[in-house]
Amino acid sequence: MAGPKAAFFDGQAEIVGLNADMPTNYHGESCRATVTACVIFPRLSSAALQHYDSIATLLPRKFGKLPIVMVDNIALRNPRLGRAAGGSKPQPPPMVADCFEHQPQPRVAEFFAGIGLVRLALERQGFRVAFANDIDPDKLEIYRDNFGAGDFHLGDIHQLDAAAIPDCELFTASFPCNDLSLAGARAGLAGGQSSAFWGLVRILECLHERRPPLVMLENVPGFLNSHGGKDFEAALMALTGLGYACDAFLLDAAHFVPQSRLRMFVVAKQGEPGGPALDVPISPLRPTRLTDFIEAHPRIRWNLAPLPPPPMRECRLEAILERLPAKHPAWWSRERADYFMGQLSDRHAAVAKEMIEGRSPRFATAFRRVRNGRSMAELRTDGIAGCLRTPRGGSGRQILFQAGGGRRQVRLLTARECARLQGAPDSFKINVGLNQALFGFGDAVCVPAVEWIAEHYLLPSLKSLG
Ligand SMILES: C[S@@+](CC[C@H](N)C(=O)[O-])C[C@H]1O[C@@H](n2cnc3c(N)ncnc32)[C@H](O)[C@@H]1O
Repeated sequence: MAGPKAAFFDGQAEIVGLNADMPTNYHGESCRATVTACVIFPRLSSAALQHYDSIATLLPRKFGKLPIVMVDNIALRNPRLGRAAGGSKPQPPPMVADCFEHQPQPRVAEFFAGIGLVRLALERQGFRVAFANDIDPDKLEIYRDNFGAGDFHLGDIHQLDAAAIPDCELFTASFPCNDLSLAGARAGLAGGQSSAFWGLVRILECLHERRPPLVMLENVPGFLNSHGGKDFEAALMALTGLGYACDAFLLDAAHFVPQSRLRMFVVAKQGEPGGPALDVPISPLRPTRLTDFIEAHPRIRWNLAPLPPPPMRECRLEAILERLPAKHPAWWSRERADYFMGQLSDRHAAVAKEMIEGRSPRFATAFRRVRNGRSMAELRTDGIAGCLRTPRGGSGRQILFQAGGGRRQVRLLTARECARLQGAPDSFKINVGLNQALFGFGDAVCVPAVEWIAEHYLLPSLKSLG
């Protein structure tokens, strides 16, 4: 059966199951694989082909986007696609239908790469990571398990040799938030951790004409008001001084995954006109506190792009939970769960009681906080998890409370659940212990949020910069 032709890049592709019995959510029914050709498989039903047709016609319009290769059951089991679906018999080889139009992929250097979730997002949008850097060997271990370590340079950004960084179209810097977040001591950009930002500025200075046309920063919303706005101003003035025009917006991971995680993104663009922001495009991603800052800082070269509204999330907390049997050791003992219940305030205890008495199971998450010198637990029952944090000091671990039918159970969120809360697919390997994984995911970015920015901002910007 002949299939339609489509142009794909060499490189990574998203492999998506096509048949109705293969849900295409991010619980693992899609996977990534390296393709060197557009492969079209025989044995697709006519309905499937029709579906494929509509996807195929969409592809050329999505210039620069990672191709989606639709395959059927048989193909998903084919080892050529790198999917380990055990127990399958040797499969007939796929029919290579066509292979043409190799588009160059935009290259990225990712600083503060952590466990690689920025990479995961950007690769899905057709970018290629040519260089990665982070100082933390524990993060590297997870990164290496998922991407290899070929492009990864372990070490302090302050020590990096700019000459060793290849030409790139995009630099990303998800730099440490410890000194900018509310939880930190707020030493700001002069702090021991967040000052790593100046390491990036030094590299950009050294690169001169090899500076990338785009730089994307990611950090906590506290970046905006650290030291009364002085740190944000200093960072954007540094980029202005390097010839960039700046844009900024706040995007919450909750638009994509059941996790509340508001983050500040700055996109700096080389070769774009810039100046005082006379007309700030209206967007829910630029709330008043940000537009006030933009208008109050005309010395920063601004270039503000219109942004589409972010999507409405469909997935609730329960959709990402692992169904652990009642006897699973992850569930806390009666004594430990009782202790947790004793940490709830009267108001939260009443919510817990109502959940326990309900007929069907309901779920809440909780963090422990010190209130008036006492460790207290607070339930969150709005169908999304609180912002993942690193488990420093023991209070950063997020607790799951499950109740209904007169029963209740309590445990910590698992590493896989944290991965899902960051939008990482189940094919993302977690071969390390819980604590190491929680440090990795607590520090990481939300994959579909960065993917959305890549699709709606970075790729169009690169296109307009030519
Ligand atoms: C907010 S995390 C970024 C996480 C990453 N975006 C991800 O998705 O996993 C900040 C990272 O900066 C790294 N880091 C801190 N100081 C650094 C330095 N001086 N040089 C290089 N990396 C540093 C930390 O190890 C941490 O992984």
